Amino acid sequence: MLSYRHAFHAGNHADVFKHASLSLALASFKQKDKPFIYIDTHAGGGIYDLAGEWARKTKEANSGIQRLWHQPSQWPELTDYFQVLNRLNSAQAGQQFYPGSPEIARQLLRPQDQLLLMELHPQEIDVLRTHLAKDPRVHLHHRDGLEGLTALTPPTPRRGLVLIDPAYERHEEYAQVVQAVKKAYTRWPTGTYLIWYPLLAKARDQSRRLLHDLKEKTSFASVLIAELSIEAQHPDLGMHGSGLAIINPPWQLDQSLIKLLPRLSQALQLGNQGHWRVDWLISTT
Ligand SMILES: C[S@@+](CC[C@H](N)C(=O)[O-])C[C@H]1O[C@@H](n2cnc3c(N)ncnc32)[C@H](O)[C@@H]1O
Repeated sequence: MLSYRHAFHAGNHADVFKHASLSLALASFKQKDKPFIYIDTHAGGGIYDLAGEWARKTKEANSGIQRLWHQPSQWPELTDYFQVLNRLNSAQAGQQFYPGSPEIARQLLRPQDQLLLMELHPQEIDVLRTHLAKDPRVHLHHRDGLEGLTALTPPTPRRGLVLIDPAYERHEEYAQVVQAVKKAYTRWPTGTYLIWYPLLAKARDQSRRLLHDLKEKTSFASVLIAELSIEAQHPDLGMHGSGLAIINPPWQLDQSLIKLLPRLSQALQLGNQGHWRVDWLISTT
C-alpha cells in the first residue's frame, strides 16, 4: 500500500540536504559537454505548494528551506539550487512553490541531456505528468522504480546519475534498494548512484545496516557517505537527519560537500545539536 505523500514533507531539512547535494552533482556532470541522463526512481510530484493544506499541516519547510531562502547571497555554492527556486516563484511575490528532485534536474539539465522519471503512486504520477510531461527531454514511467532501474539500465546515453529516494515505509525496502542497485551496477558499473536514507530514532533507525550491506554485500568500486542531522537522535520517534550513499561520486564532490555541510548544519540545526559527516565507505585509494 502506498500511503506516503511527499507534499507533507516538501522543503524540509532532508529535502534541502538532498537537493543541494543533487545540484552539486549535476554541476559536476555539466563540466563536460557530453550528454548525460538523470534517472529518478522515486520521483514524487515534481513541484509542491508550500501554501497547500498538506504542507501547512506539518510546516516542515520552516525548519528546512525557509531558513535559507531569505539569504541566497550567503550560499554562492548553491547558486544553481536557488536559481531553480527563484524561477519557480518568479510569477508571484513570496516563496510558495518548492521543487522536487525531477524539477530541479529538469531546470538544470541542458538541451542534450535526458530525464527518466519513475513513480508508482497513481495520483502522484498524474501530478508529475501535469508539471513535467511537456518537456521533450522527460520520459515518465508509472512503474516500480527499483524494478525499472534494473530493467532500464544500462541507459542511453551511458553517462548518467540515478537518484534513489524511497519513502522507506517498509523495513524490507532497505534490502531491496541494495539488491536493485547491485543488479543495476553489474549492468552499468560506470553510473553514479545517489541513495538517500533517513536517520531515524534509535528504535527505528536502519541506516547502519544499510551502510553495512552496501559495503559488505556488493562489489562497488567507490562509495562516498554524506550525512546531515539537525538535532540529536530521539529514542522512539522522528527523523533527526538524513544521508546519501553515493556510488561512483563525480570528481571532487567530496570536497564540495565538505565545504557545504558544516555551514548547512549550522544554518539548519535546532539548538546546538547539528551534525554532519563526509566519509568514504569504499575508497579507490
Ligand atoms: C521521498 S518521495 C520522492 C521525493 C523526490 N525524489 C524529491 O526529492 O522531490 C518518494 C516517492 O516514491 C514513491 N514510491 C513509493 N514506492 C515506489 C516504488 N516502488 N516505485 C516508484 N515510486 C515509489 C512515492 O509515491 C513517493 O512519491
